[in-house]
Amino acid sequence: IRHPHMEPWSFAGIFGKYDTAQLQRGYQVYKEVCASCHSMNFLHFRNLADEGGPHFTEAQAKAVAAGYQVQDGPNDAGDMFERPGRLSDRFPAPFPNPEAAAAANNGKAPPDLSLMAKARAVHRGFPWFVLDVFTQYQEGGPDYIHNLLTGYKEPPPGVTVGPGLHYNVGFNAGPAIAMPPPLSDGQVTYTDGAPQTVDQYARDVSAFLMWAAEPHLDARKRTGFQVIIFVLVFAGLLYATKRKIWSKIA
Ligand code: HEM
Repeated sequence: IRHPHMEPWSFAGIFGKYDTAQLQRGYQVYKEVCASCHSMNFLHFRNLADEGGPHFTEAQAKAVAAGYQVQDGPNDAGDMFERPGRLSDRFPAPFPNPEAAAAANNGKAPPDLSLMAKARAVHRGFPWFVLDVFTQYQEGGPDYIHNLLTGYKEPPPGVTVGPGLHYNVGFNAGPAIAMPPPLSDGQVTYTDGAPQTVDQYARDVSAFLMWAAEPHLDARKRTGFQVIIFVLVFAGLLYATKRKIWSKIA
């Protein structure tokens, strides 16, 4: 198993922020490629317009929603019915239930991707995991997903994988994975001139999945920074006050 490479994510580090254009491209990859197998149960159409996220306009998010038919009901007659999606709806799952998802994928249901970037991470062993607390290393999930999507290789001589499985050096439980290589060069057409390569698609969709799992990262980092400044100033004031009060009791 290949050790995931630490990618230079825009959202890494204390001042890291999501790259809006990258999240928009990542969403496009999710929608055009991954969504045919993977659900994203915690993502609502309205989230696409969130600040600190892909930040599409509300009209664009509405148009995306309206492009889906979602189940609603029961109506007055007690029937379920389908209607065009609204901003308050979640992304519809590609399969009605896990059994159907497994049946369509050689017995392995594609997992929900909403929290995948938090569920999988690089295990960096001692002493790194101690340092990671201080360096704020939280990008293990997107590193892993990028590594997985770019990890399909020809099996080495003498190694075979079972029927319906694919050799992937980025898979934690691998190297045989039930997911067929989902990405190929030129598969998704970008409008902003970004390279249309497997590596770039994998990077963008990993960033998008990081945002889905950690939607308030930008705001959280900003608040954290303000809190630290406040605490420093406050500590200075306390110290000055203490000196003033005790100065009379020399
Ligand atoms: C598993 C991501 C497209 C079918 C997974 C996993 C991730 C992932 C992160 C979990 C791996 C783990 O457990 O560590 C993606 C992304 C896609 C994509 C980002 C789009 C770029 C697809 C497509 C299919 C598919 C199109 C169906 C043709 C599966 C299946 C598994 C899986 C069956 C379970 C694999 C196993 O446990 O052996 N995918 N996937 N995926 N995916 Fe995908």
